Amino acid sequence: MADRISFEAPRGMRDFYPEDMTWRNKVFGAFRASAEAYGFEPYDACVVESYDLLARKAGEEVGEQIYHFYDKSERHLALRAEMTPTLARMVAQRQKELRFPLKWTTIAQCFRYERMTKGRKREHYQWNLDIIGEDSVLAEAEVIGAAVDALLRMGLGRGDFKVHVSSRKFLGGLLEKSGIAPELHAQVFLALDKRGKMPDSEIAAMMKDGGLSDADVTAAFAIMDTKDCSGCAELEELFSLAQTAGFADCLEFDISVIRGLSYYTGVVFECFDTKGEFRAIFGGGRYDNLLTTIGGEPTSAVGLGFGDVVVTELLKVRLGSDAAAEKKGVAVGFMFQEQRDAAVRLAARLRADGEIVDLALRPQKPKKFFSHADQSRAAKAVFLGPDDVERGVARIKDMATRKEKEVVL
Ligand code: HAM
Repeated sequence: MADRISFEAPRGMRDFYPEDMTWRNKVFGAFRASAEAYGFEPYDACVVESYDLLARKAGEEVGEQIYHFYDKSERHLALRAEMTPTLARMVAQRQKELRFPLKWTTIAQCFRYERMTKGRKREHYQWNLDIIGEDSVLAEAEVIGAAVDALLRMGLGRGDFKVHVSSRKFLGGLLEKSGIAPELHAQVFLALDKRGKMPDSEIAAMMKDGGLSDADVTAAFAIMDTKDCSGCAELEELFSLAQTAGFADCLEFDISVIRGLSYYTGVVFECFDTKGEFRAIFGGGRYDNLLTTIGGEPTSAVGLGFGDVVVTELLKVRLGSDAAAEKKGVAVGFMFQEQRDAAVRLAARLRADGEIVDLALRPQKPKKFFSHADQSRAAKAVFLGPDDVERGVARIKDMATRKEKEVVL
């Protein structure tokens, strides 16, 4: 007997059955609509990148999670874990020709060998919004505003989520004031970002390994109690712009937002559900040095990544698990083989009128046809029997109201 292979997708990878696609389409639809409403241009790239571009300094979580392999010519390649390095490469390659500031968007499939938890898979789609070549904090306001807009389009209420904002510059200033040298800040950011995910004792050990004294570690933890960002010009301006644009109620200052990726330089933010049940919905910030790091000209940049996994889980809980499937189109069926041509003609005519038509492929009993039409979420249904065809009329039934309307065949 031949060996059966497993029917399951590899661990952490996702199959999308039609009912999953209705959710994916709903979420992607909101991503695309918001990007367009905010004037972002779509771009794309291959999911395979060179490993060297994606891999970063030791200690960074994402760097350790990269799926990588050698091709037959011994090129070291990887599946992208995020889009940002690829975006930086694409911009650097055409830096002389491109007109800045540029606003680009994509929905990128990303792979990370993560420990599997709620909201974290080994494969996810990530909506990216980036503005390259703009120093003004209005760039931050626009990307956050667009992401908030997408959440509202998906059907969430303003009270369902909050964007937590901070600034690495502000935090760096506070660290420096308490005597922690700037060259140690990257290590402190990396360690403090782990708060809540590992015990404080381990975080303290990470900081000491990075060269901090006991007094420095105590000071760093004390700074994490900061509740007020007044005096930080970029955050004050961001809150004021959010007020003007109408989404200040969705924003709050939170010193504990640091972000795990090392390229962020200024404002950083992360969005969470207000009940605190899920992982981060989206995250991003300013990364003014990434282009120079990979060999491009110095350029400021701001952006965010918004995954499909967490938001879909949140939507299913808040809106109900079949909220994505809308009733649409007309189901057309027939009782006997003799009515098949009339059904085909009717389907052709309805499609020519712009209707979505699901034509039955074989004769059916009316009961079976209507129950299938219900399940397939048709908005309307027409069933042709011998009498209908003889009389030259058919009845279109509205599946929600059960009302019928006659049409001439
Ligand atoms: P990130 O925080 O690593 O940032 O990921 C952004 C978002 O992608 C997360 O908030 C989450 O929604 C989703 N995400 C990440 N990993 C997973 C996973 N394993 N499973 C499901 N969802 C996941 C970045 O990737 C930055 N490159 C974002 C960015 C763009 N910054 C500037 N521009």
